[in-house]
Amino acid sequence: MSFYIGIDLGTSAMKLLLLDEQGVIKNSVSRSYPVSFPHPAWSEQRPEDWWEACKDGIRELTSGIDKNLVCGIGAGGQMHGLVALDENDEVIRPAILWNDARTANEVDFLNNEIGKEKLSALTANIAFAGFTATKILWMKNNEPENFSRIKKIMLPKDYINYKLTGVHATDYSDASGMLLLDVENKCWSSEMLCLCGIAEEQMPTLFESFDVIGTLSEDCAKALGLPNSVKVVAGAGDNAAAAIGTGTVGDGNCNISLGTSGTIFISAKDFCVDSNNALHAFAHADGNYHLMGCMLSAASCNKWFCDEILHTTDYAAEQKDITEDMFGKNRVFFLPYLMGERSPINDTNARGTFTGMTMDTKREDLVLAVLEGVAFAIRDSFEVAKKLGIDIPRSKICGGGAKSRLWCKIFANVLSIPLDIPQTEEGPGYGGAMLAMVGCGLYKDVNECVSALVKTTATIDPTPELSARYEERYQKFKKIYPAMKELFADMQ
Ligand code: XUL
Repeated sequence: MSFYIGIDLGTSAMKLLLLDEQGVIKNSVSRSYPVSFPHPAWSEQRPEDWWEACKDGIRELTSGIDKNLVCGIGAGGQMHGLVALDENDEVIRPAILWNDARTANEVDFLNNEIGKEKLSALTANIAFAGFTATKILWMKNNEPENFSRIKKIMLPKDYINYKLTGVHATDYSDASGMLLLDVENKCWSSEMLCLCGIAEEQMPTLFESFDVIGTLSEDCAKALGLPNSVKVVAGAGDNAAAAIGTGTVGDGNCNISLGTSGTIFISAKDFCVDSNNALHAFAHADGNYHLMGCMLSAASCNKWFCDEILHTTDYAAEQKDITEDMFGKNRVFFLPYLMGERSPINDTNARGTFTGMTMDTKREDLVLAVLEGVAFAIRDSFEVAKKLGIDIPRSKICGGGAKSRLWCKIFANVLSIPLDIPQTEEGPGYGGAMLAMVGCGLYKDVNECVSALVKTTATIDPTPELSARYEERYQKFKKIYPAMKELFADMQ
């Protein structure tokens, strides 16, 4: 008998799962923490809050079991966030998160002065406001005092792993999103580090996601009440971890994740780059590669609309009057760009927008428009992938948003492909625990672990008539952003 802990370091909360060696979830715990928006389009969190959530969460998670049976821990974490530590390994300033848009100047500098071609040749990607290198440059330009104190740079889940083990490590999937990694050759790009004024010693050591980086430090083991033999694997960016958790490995498999962000993730056996860099070209947690489109506000659009505008947290009640015969007939459109947008438009100025309302527009039309707007925006990245010649005959879907079967049906019809619902929506946490199992030697590799543990419980098929109606609506949706683009820039 052995247990494995999977950590999902999300933006709204940390979710922790306890799995037995059969992959059965024995317990789950969630701890939320605040996000602060100190200026419009800035987004920060305190790494210390993540660590408190983690310690507290692990204690509760393991309270009913023999703790000596815990063998491994693996984390999937929100990507790109800049965690900067000083010489005493203390956090220098709050982490600047993946959906923070303060770095427009640094993005311009990188994409226009250094040039997209060069960035893509060095890192397989171009600069997006969320990517870590732009934040390092921002700190250098705006907080030189803080910048000069940086001893180590790391990503959010790497901070948790450091607190667990005392080891400064990261993995290739998460490191890919820093714009500092030579993704194809899986090493730091010395040219990019130099451009950001960073030395390689300031970077964490690189590992495969399933590699063991160390065991619990003595202090930490004591604090958690766990044996210090517990192995900690490098873990992965949350999307790569979710892909493992939903079995999206190997070549040409697809996963859609509907969390705070919305992503479309396509696994690839070989290294590949989108020649326009609209999709990210990153390493995968199975040891291979993937392409990914990321929208900055997905399930968070629905959360925002319900919480802030409708003043309700009963999301299911808001969706209960929406029936399938309303699909593709809604005259209201919603652009989901509440935090600007990354894939594929890369525009920090883009904003959320409702259009098409008339006096007979009802509350549920607006709710439906929000759900549809997110699906249409994912379709934008799906279209980019198709244009690259990638065949996506079906996809998995996971994340908090996927708990709504209605939303899954909208996605299936907007994309016109069947969507497989995995046994657990908790993709990143489940994937993190699976990586720990591989690291502990329970499976010889990620593929073997996926074959043994990942199961699909339902498939949502598109209906030709509904897909045709959505096709027509999507063609209209596509015209809204180009019509607004200049105005969005003027409005800043
Ligand atoms: C991916 C991305 C988001 C975060 C959310 O590039 O920025 O999906 O990882 O946690």
